[in-house]
Amino acid sequence: MKSAELFGERFGGEPDGVWLAPGRANLMGEHTDYNDGFVLPFALRQGITAAAARRGGRPARRLTLCSRQEPEAAVEVDLDGLEPGRVTGWAAYPAGVAWALEAAGHRVPGACIAIDSDLPTSAGLSSSAALECATALALTDLGGLDVPRGDLVTLARRAENEFVGAPTGIMDQSASLLCRAGHVLLLDCRSLETSQVPFDPAAAGAGLLVVNTRARHELTDGEYGQRRAECEEAARRLGISSLRDITGVGDIARLTDPVLRRRARHVVTDNERVLEVVALLRSSPGVAAEEVYRQIGRLLAQAHVSLRDDFEVSWPQADEAVEAAMAAGAYGARMIGGGFGGSVLALVPAAAASAVRAAVTAAFARHGWTAPEFLDAIPADSARRLVV
Ligand code: GLA
Repeated sequence: MKSAELFGERFGGEPDGVWLAPGRANLMGEHTDYNDGFVLPFALRQGITAAAARRGGRPARRLTLCSRQEPEAAVEVDLDGLEPGRVTGWAAYPAGVAWALEAAGHRVPGACIAIDSDLPTSAGLSSSAALECATALALTDLGGLDVPRGDLVTLARRAENEFVGAPTGIMDQSASLLCRAGHVLLLDCRSLETSQVPFDPAAAGAGLLVVNTRARHELTDGEYGQRRAECEEAARRLGISSLRDITGVGDIARLTDPVLRRRARHVVTDNERVLEVVALLRSSPGVAAEEVYRQIGRLLAQAHVSLRDDFEVSWPQADEAVEAAMAAGAYGARMIGGGFGGSVLALVPAAAASAVRAAVTAAFARHGWTAPEFLDAIPADSARRLVV
């Protein structure tokens, strides 16, 4: 990525450093994070880089932000008097991080920051969280601020929830800041306990494919917030603090509203699927690796049906991509992220990889849809300073 070059072009000279924060895909557990449940994401190789330097001149308490993907003039953000609503558009994400850091009592240094990305935007791969996390690392390193990663996760989420105004859970920022190469991250969104679960499909002759369906997805649209409100309402009617506390099918049956019942059923079954995938991965002495991936594929397919029919967040291109991928030999596939656009994740035996891509491409062409984009999803390391 070329954020250091962009820095030179826009600001002159060399940045003090370059920080990378990855996007994420999620193996299992969708719309479970804000229900205090479980998620199982991994970081992608693709992400966002921020090349940054402390401001030399005046005004010292200012961020100057530019992005290769946003060809407008640089955005100037005054650190004094920063509050939600002051900055809009893409710059609200980095500005929100500065605001959240200051609100937590950290003194953010004035800085010039040049952003570049190789992560498709609006593809449900957490480009927003990656932008927040790259900025968070850059600002804390530049300012010599000692903020533990777990706190940075919370601050980056606060930027998105309160400054940008997207009511998301904590999965994406956790993935970007805490994942480890060759692992999926099991996160209990209630206790915030994490554990790294070894995950190496290539060793079992399989691979993960992200299909960007090119149907755009925005978390600031109302549908995501509506799902969240429905889950809260279901919990309220059951007299529990969150859907995490549902203990059995009996609880779900007590919901008389059919929509709320379906929403709750998705959350309960997806939490179970997360734990099943973890058990399979940690597993089962004697189960051949290929069989483990076949079983995970089956769970992915079930999750897609649950997201489509019970949670109702899928979209036509995702349904088609899942169906075409499975028909061409994928072990399983499902939509990932918030829904209503974005990407599908397919678990594919290596021998079927090109057939799956061809089948999905052909299905999209038959519908006259924009051709999909494919990314090999290889579980990568979390956000870090790059050596340049
Ligand atoms: C988006 C949000 C996450 C999570 C997912 C759905 O990615 O940012 O917090 O809720 O949707 O699982």
